[in-house]
Amino acid sequence: MTSMDLNYIKNVATGAAFRSAEILNRFFGKLTDIGKKGPDDLVTEADIASEKQIIETIRSKFPDHDILAEESGWHQTGKSPYRWIIDPLDGTTNYAYQIPIFSISIGFAIDNEMMVGLVLNPVSGELFTAVRGRGAFLNGTPIRVSDRKDIGEALLVTGFPYDVDQILRNAMRRFEACLTAARGVRRLGSAALDLCFVACGRFDGFWEEHLKPWDTAAGIVIAAEAGAVITDFSGHPFTVDKKEILAANGHIHGQLQSILEIKI
Ligand code: IPD
Ligand code: CA
Ligand code: CA
Repeated sequence: MTSMDLNYIKNVATGAAFRSAEILNRFFGKLTDIGKKGPDDLVTEADIASEKQIIETIRSKFPDHDILAEESGWHQTGKSPYRWIIDPLDGTTNYAYQIPIFSISIGFAIDNEMMVGLVLNPVSGELFTAVRGRGAFLNGTPIRVSDRKDIGEALLVTGFPYDVDQILRNAMRRFEACLTAARGVRRLGSAALDLCFVACGRFDGFWEEHLKPWDTAAGIVIAAEAGAVITDFSGHPFTVDKKEILAANGHIHGQLQSILEIKI
């Protein structure tokens, strides 16, 4: 696929994201149907409607591409090297509680390599985009990770999975260690936005365990293109199927990794 085509992919994703933003804004504060996928894992009519719209958009333009979407799973068409990975509403709990921190996340991969990422916050109107090798942007303006060098001055962000009780001891040990080492730690509730906020330098680092491919697919392209180092807790390169993610500016990354690597 040529670089010209990747731009087209980004434009299609942008159109789909803005249409889903209208859907999410329409339902915001007016939900009538909040279901559960697990004890704490919510799903709303907005997640479903947003996902349906994005899939229809992709299908209409690229009928033979594969799609992995959070709520409906695989839309397999065969052995296409082209794959879309979608989170139609990242931050469902915030959304259901009317906290305006959530996003639409659309990633595009070729042969398992993430090539395009787009994350849109429908409330703030912030659109983060990146095409591999061409830099990362916030509403069209280039973005870079922070230049902060010392973890003692770093503002970090993390999140907790719905099955956190299964990893509670380790997660709390890591949380405690980071809280002690850094200037502060936040928990926003949208992993896609966490990665974008590292990309534009608002946060110096992000870590989380047990995320799913749709949580990170778009955000890692944006963060990497903005200069973030992205690995697992052992320092090996991150891929969307991994259980641990650590994304940080190049100065903080090593310091954070040595904290997160703790064997328990
Ligand atoms: C969740 C958010 C949250 C993270 C959870 C994810 P969802 O996604 O990204 O920040 O901590 O682990 O599951 O369920 O709102 O799409
Ligand atoms: Ca998610
Ligand atoms: Ca979601």
